[in-house]
Amino acid sequence: MQDKHQKVQTLLDAIPYIKKFNSKTIVIKYGGSAQTSPELQEKFAQDIVLLSLLGINPVIVHGGGARISELLEKLEIKSEFIDGHRVTSKETMRVVEMVLSGEINKNITSLLNHHGAKAIGISGKDSAIIKARPKDGGKFGYTGEITEINGDLINNLIKEGFIPVIAPIADSAEPNHPGFNINADFAASKVAVALGAQKVLFLTDIIGVLDKAGVHLTTLDKEQVEAYKADGTIAGGMIPKVDSCIETIHDGVNKAHIIDGRVEHSILLELFTKDGIGTQFLRRDNPNNGIDIEKLLNEND
Ligand SMILES: Nc1ncnc2c1ncn2[C@@H]1O[C@H](COP(=O)(O)OP(=O)(O)OP(=O)(O)O)[C@@H](O)[C@H]1O
Ligand SMILES: [Mg+2]
Repeated sequence: MQDKHQKVQTLLDAIPYIKKFNSKTIVIKYGGSAQTSPELQEKFAQDIVLLSLLGINPVIVHGGGARISELLEKLEIKSEFIDGHRVTSKETMRVVEMVLSGEINKNITSLLNHHGAKAIGISGKDSAIIKARPKDGGKFGYTGEITEINGDLINNLIKEGFIPVIAPIADSAEPNHPGFNINADFAASKVAVALGAQKVLFLTDIIGVLDKAGVHLTTLDKEQVEAYKADGTIAGGMIPKVDSCIETIHDGVNKAHIIDGRVEHSILLELFTKDGIGTQFLRRDNPNNGIDIEKLLNEND
């Protein structure tokens, strides 16, 4: 009996959050590092389907860096990283598209559909919803930076009841161009801004951002992020992720969180419990003067 009451209490505790997030869009960056086991993928699918049933609009943007590296290695194609960004040659771009748009995108879409969702898998090339140009003037080859997102098209899919699953590949304005490889963290943040999302969650393979001593940092603002990047505490794939979090909260999205995708049901824990998990990003120079930082920290909004 005690157990049954506990279950009911859990549901009751979630009511304020269900109300708050109802009909709101939540963008979830599903990192390659969080897609590792079939069990975790199942839990992820359950979380997304539950959000959808609760009237929340999840939008998935996925990564797949590890899978791309694995296939490149098998094909003996060399690929290097500068500051956490892949340098994409023409040959690499073919593999990036095969893995992201072909394999991972369809696997996630089909997984969600098997769990009863109405998911639709697309890449930024479909109807040119994501347009890009070469990043930093071409220093990274076919790695691109986003110039435009067609948020209306994604919103139309949401209105029709679909869960968009987006592969981070962008279209080029040039004809016969192979397209661009976009860092999935940047794609998620730009999609969140274009949709006016309530929140963006970055699922990854670590509990959150760590300091030099390995201590978990639960909150970060822009100044702290810059300092941790400058002294090398934040490195590799964590650089585009923290940059994306800072960009989204400065471009109108309420909150950005980096959470541990290896923890079962991490999405539900973040959204429906008071404390949440991971690292959350704050805008201390919020134009709403007089904002109460403690209140902001404690409110899961
Ligand atoms: N200060 C830091 N705190 C936490 N992780 C860090 C830090 N600096 C670097 N990292 C690294 O960043 C990694 C997460 O980024 P990574 O790009 O590997 O994963 P992902 O973005 O989730 O996956 P994908 O790029 O495939 O979508 C962590 O596993 C960790 O090794
Ligand atoms: Mg990454």
